[in-house]
Amino acid sequence: MPSETLTIRDNRTGKELELPILKGTEGPSVVDVTKFYKEFGLFTLDPGFYSTASCISEITFIDGEKGILLYRGYPIEQLAEQSNFLEVSYLLLFGKLPNQAEHEQFERLVTQHTMVHEQLKDFYRGFRRDAHPMAIMVGVIGALSAFYHDSLDIFDARSREISAYRLIAKMPTIAAFSYKYAVGQPFVYPDNERGFVENFLYMMFAVPCAKYKVSPVLVKAMDQILTLHADHEQNASTATVRLAGSSLANPFAAISAGIGALWGPAHGGANEAVLNMLGQIRTPDRIGEYIKRAKDPQDPFRLMGFGHRVYKNYDPRAKVLRKAAHDVLQELGHVDDPRFKVALELERIAREDDYFVQKKLYPNVDFYSGLILSAIGFPTNMFTVIFALARSVGWFSQWMEMISDKGQAIGRPRQLYRGAMTRDYVPLYQRD
Ligand code: CMC
Repeated sequence: MPSETLTIRDNRTGKELELPILKGTEGPSVVDVTKFYKEFGLFTLDPGFYSTASCISEITFIDGEKGILLYRGYPIEQLAEQSNFLEVSYLLLFGKLPNQAEHEQFERLVTQHTMVHEQLKDFYRGFRRDAHPMAIMVGVIGALSAFYHDSLDIFDARSREISAYRLIAKMPTIAAFSYKYAVGQPFVYPDNERGFVENFLYMMFAVPCAKYKVSPVLVKAMDQILTLHADHEQNASTATVRLAGSSLANPFAAISAGIGALWGPAHGGANEAVLNMLGQIRTPDRIGEYIKRAKDPQDPFRLMGFGHRVYKNYDPRAKVLRKAAHDVLQELGHVDDPRFKVALELERIAREDDYFVQKKLYPNVDFYSGLILSAIGFPTNMFTVIFALARSVGWFSQWMEMISDKGQAIGRPRQLYRGAMTRDYVPLYQRD
C-alpha cells in the first residue's frame, strides 16, 4: 500500500475503504479506484473524464494552469525552435533524443517507406472527387492493414517499429494524394532527396509541368506546426486509439479510429472556424462588436481560437505559431493580410478585456495555425488532415506504450443504466 491513501466511507453501510494515492513525476496524483467496485459494489461516473485518468503514461505532460507542454520532459517551445518533426517523432516513440547515428538511421528508415503500394492508389478512385479528405484518410489509413501483413504482429517489438516507420512515412503521401485527387491533378510521388516536411509540401503543391521550389521559411513553419501537434496526452482521438488498440486490433485500424475522432469540429476543426471568424470580422474596427457578442451569454457566438479545456493560461503552442505566422506572411509578402491584422488586434483587445482575463481565456493553438496553413496554400478542408498527419506519431507512441505494458487489458467502461426494467416480449398482434 503506498504511503498516501484516501479513505472512502459508504454512509449506507459504514464500510470504509482505503484507496491508494499514486504519485506522478509532475501534475496531480491519482486515486487508484480499481478495487472500488469489488469492495463497494459501486461504479464511479465521469463521462467527460473531468476527474479520471484513463492510463499511466510517460510520454506527454500538460500543466494547463501554467501553460506548460512537455514531450518526454522537453518543453515544447525548445523542441519547436531547436528540433524538428522527425527528431520529435523519435523522441515520442522511443523516449529519448537520438544520437547522431540513431538520427541518421531513423531518417533513412522513414525515408525508405514514403511510397505506398501501387494498388493502394486505386482506393482513391472509389471516392467521389468532392469527398472530404478526412473521409479518405479514415478509409486509406485503415486499409494499410490490408497491405502490410508482414508487420502486423503486435506482440513483436520489431514489427511494431516497422509499422511505425510505415505510418509516419506514408501519412504525408496519403494526405497529399487525397488533396491531388480532389483537385484533379496527378499524384506526385515522394522525392526522397527532399527532407520529410519539404517532401510533403512537394507532393501537395508540385505539378509535373513545373519545377517546385519552396522557401525554407515555409518549411520551418510547417515543421513547427507538425511538431506542436505531434502529441497532447489523453485527448479524445488518442483515447480512442488506445481504446480501439486495447482489443489488440492492429495499429492501422486503431489509428484509423483515432482519425475519425479527430475529424469532429470540437477536436480538430477549430482552426478552420478561426479563419472563418477573422474573415467575418474583416477589419479591426469591427472587433469591438464581436467581442461584445462573445461576452453575451444569450449569443451562441464564441471567440474561436480562444479558451481551452486544459490550458487556463497562454497555450505555449500558440506563442510559437504567432511568430511563425508573422514569418510566413512576411516571406510571402502578405503581412498586410487583413485576417492577420484582425487576429493580432483581436488578441490584444481580448487580453486586456476583463471577461477574458477573469475566465482565463487565452489564444489556443488554433488561433494562428489556420492563418499559416492558408498562406502556404492549403485549402481549409486539409487543415484537419495535417493535424492527423502530425498526431499520427503521438497516436502510435501512445499505442506502443499501451501494447508493451505487461498489465495491458481491454478497455471496458461501465455505465449507469436508466433504461427499462426487465419485461416480457409481447407478440405484435397483442400490442396496442
Ligand atoms: N469565447 C467566449 N467565451 C468563452 C470562450 C470563447 N472562446 N470559451 C469559453 N468561454 C466562456 C464560457 O462561455 C464559460 O462562461 P461561463 O463561465 O459564464 O459559463 C467560461 O468561458 C468557461 O468556458 P467553458 O466552456 O467551461 O470552458 P471549457 O474549458 O469547457 O471549453 C472550449 C473550452 C475550447 C470548448 C471553449 O473555450 C471554446 O469553445 N473555445 C472556442 C473554440 C476553440 O477555439 N476550440 C479549440 C480548442 S484547442 C484544440 C486542441 O487543443 O486540440
